[in-house]
Amino acid sequence: MRVAIGADHGGFPLKAALVTQIRDLGHQVQDLGAHTLDPTDDYPDFAQAVAQAVAAGRAERGIVVCGSGVGGSVAANKIAGVRAAVCHDAYSAHQGVEHDDMNVLCLGARVVGAELARELVAAFLSAQFSGEERHLRRLNKVKALEAGMAGGRRKTSAP
Ligand code: RB5
Repeated sequence: MRVAIGADHGGFPLKAALVTQIRDLGHQVQDLGAHTLDPTDDYPDFAQAVAQAVAAGRAERGIVVCGSGVGGSVAANKIAGVRAAVCHDAYSAHQGVEHDDMNVLCLGARVVGAELARELVAAFLSAQFSGEERHLRRLNKVKALEAGMAGGRRKTSAP
């Protein structure tokens, strides 16, 4: 799988370890920076680079690392076709792919340690979208929201 990764100064210390791990897992890594530690750099630039790589199909998955993961996810989700989320627990890191077709994982290097980050990345990269009807139905509603076509109707019956 082709995996794009980017980090601002808040995520920079963690990124190198994740690049090595992703390669060791057998994936092809696109490191979209930062390539040097610059305390004045801005997370939207790296989130944009990763999100555009995923949206354009140059990468199947993306990983954005900033201080909290929050700014990276807010910025990445501005790119059409990107479904990004901060996941600091392993369940969300794989279930977000399986149910929601999440394609960008956002991590906060000031929140999680390197070992947990590695587990989160492994869970994210090994997960696949289920393709189940209810997940497709919900994904299509998300896509309609993105396209500005949502009509405001909600399905309220279970499941
Ligand atoms: C940078 O200092 C920090 O604000 C950024 O990495 C991130 O945490 C934003 O969400």
